[in-house]
Amino acid sequence: MHTQKPELNSVAPVLENNVAERNVRREWLRLASTASVGAMVFLLTGNTKKLYAQSLQGDLGILTAALYLEHEAVAAYQAGAESKLLSPGVLQLAVAFQSDHKYHRDGISGVLKSLGVEPKGPEKKYNLGSLHSEKDILRLARDRENGAVLAYGTLASNILTKAVLNFGANVLVDEVRHRTVLNAALGIPNY
Ligand SMILES: [Fe+2]
Repeated sequence: MHTQKPELNSVAPVLENNVAERNVRREWLRLASTASVGAMVFLLTGNTKKLYAQSLQGDLGILTAALYLEHEAVAAYQAGAESKLLSPGVLQLAVAFQSDHKYHRDGISGVLKSLGVEPKGPEKKYNLGSLHSEKDILRLARDRENGAVLAYGTLASNILTKAVLNFGANVLVDEVRHRTVLNAALGIPNY
């Protein structure tokens, strides 16, 4: 399935080609750390006032914030897969969805690297709540996917660079699909 998606690594050179002046690129990188803080605050609090206006440096911040979400999703599915609480069908689903998130993570990391930004790795620990049943894990996954849909949907409207927007749109499609399946598993209406 992944072969049908645009490879962010392959579009990364396009991003770089769009930056004609080296000093412009350096300016991006200087501002990237500030922008990433702004986007991260938005993701964690939903405070749209903190989100930066459309800008190239803002795109870097958005990618950094999105990478955080992907690391967390990979960890959540890993916890579910290792819990021994999942029935075979749900385990298969968790592994497949985790694979999608690894693909997103690697794509985002690739473009950040191509722009001279070292992508951050996962946190040592995530607060995933207490997981005592398959339903707990399904709820955790559903809530994370719902957060991802809202985050990517909102952030997409602030992405300026076309290549990044294209990748983000494809990630959003995955997140909606994940949420739809998990909603169905939990009996939550999708409409
Ligand atoms: Fe997802």
